[in-house]
Amino acid sequence: MSAAGVSTASSPPLRLPGEHFAAGLGAFVCGAIGLVLVAPDLARGAFFLPHVVAVVHLFTLGWIMVSIFGALCQFLPVAVDRAIRWEWLAHVTFALQVAGVLIFVGALPTGSARGVHIGAATISAAFLLFAINLAATLAGARTHSLTWWALAGASLFLAITPVFGVVLAINLDQGLLGAERFVTIARHVHVAIGGVVLLVMVGVAHRLLPMFLLAHGVDSRAGGIAVGLLFSGALLLAIPIGGMVTAAPGAILLAAGLLAFLVQALAFYRHRVRRHIDPGMRLAAAGLIGLAAALIAAPLALSAGLANPQLLIAYHLLLLGGVSLFVAGHYYKIVPFLIWYHRFGPLVGLRPVPKVHELYSARAASIAGGLLMAGWLGLVVGVILGSPLVARASALVFAAGTIVEAIAVARIAQRRPA
Ligand code: HEM
Repeated sequence: MSAAGVSTASSPPLRLPGEHFAAGLGAFVCGAIGLVLVAPDLARGAFFLPHVVAVVHLFTLGWIMVSIFGALCQFLPVAVDRAIRWEWLAHVTFALQVAGVLIFVGALPTGSARGVHIGAATISAAFLLFAINLAATLAGARTHSLTWWALAGASLFLAITPVFGVVLAINLDQGLLGAERFVTIARHVHVAIGGVVLLVMVGVAHRLLPMFLLAHGVDSRAGGIAVGLLFSGALLLAIPIGGMVTAAPGAILLAAGLLAFLVQALAFYRHRVRRHIDPGMRLAAAGLIGLAAALIAAPLALSAGLANPQLLIAYHLLLLGGVSLFVAGHYYKIVPFLIWYHRFGPLVGLRPVPKVHELYSARAASIAGGLLMAGWLGLVVGVILGSPLVARASALVFAAGTIVEAIAVARIAQRRPA
């Protein structure tokens, strides 16, 4: 396996993905510390509280979305044979995203309506500008692969997601949505996860999983079906009219799309050449299992709705936790590759250089993975049991996992030839 799998001659300088990954990991740790604070609220079934919404968005906007933006900046030349169209704009987007998240998350618990609105508007600008940059990059690509279609769909929903976000942010102090608030939140969450996060995961995994697992020549029809289903499901959910007439089929299509993605991912894991699965790919697999559990919980949780808040929270924990572990696993693959490519690759043939996997300790990576998995599972159990103690203790274990991973990745980033 060569580092060319994630980098080519037209890849951006290390600084662009590097700043995204550093900020993403910072948000992961801060989100996990926030989770320790709000865990008892979650166990009591309180989800729609401003400080809980703040913690949720440290994960979704700070960790998941910043990681996605960074990975796309790095990965586009490999995935669609085109470097990000405007590199300077990707830096602007990054700055807006970080500033927006800080303002939004800081303002929510303090009840500052102005801060919440400014933060939401700044994040929306980042989403829109990234969508334009991504669409312009894709427009220049010569071939239209599965990855291309997945990312094209994601660029549309990147522009739609902030509309829901801003409406919900305004609603927090003006209450214009009335009883429609909770349905709108459900649409918001599923358009963002299905239309942006899962579509990007399908597109990127289509290239990265075969490479990281050494699983080549695997039938990729399930991945193609996943893209079509996720796109149409998110589109139906994005239409905020028609009540259950658009929401129910939209949700079913999204669920079927996620199932197709899981079938595709399973095929990659099953057809891998190397039997040993490294800690990064183990963590990614745990994330996929979490998404499968979310798929099973979804009909129960969403049909019970506010009548069973604990189940609703457990479902969201499975969904967002599944995505989080999948992303966290990929840091152990992508960051060592990048550091090797930029710092050690040019020395090949001139002097001995370490192998990519020698840039980090597999043991420390396994410890981080174990803590993340155990903490996350414990949190879900704590919420279902309604036990604030179990939820908080588990959140502490999860937070320890994020800290161990952040230190390990920071150490990889510091590796230089002697
Ligand atoms: C422009 C970006 C976004 C803005 C401005 C925004 C804003 C909001 C607001 C204001 C709420 C609270 C609604 C309420 O309690 O009435 C909310 C809920 C939620 N959002 Fe977002 N959001 C954005 C993007 C995202 C993304 C990308 C995701 C997922 C990947 C996401 C996931 C969620 C979840 C899970 C909830 C429910 C959390 C809870 O109620 O505790 N959001 N969002």
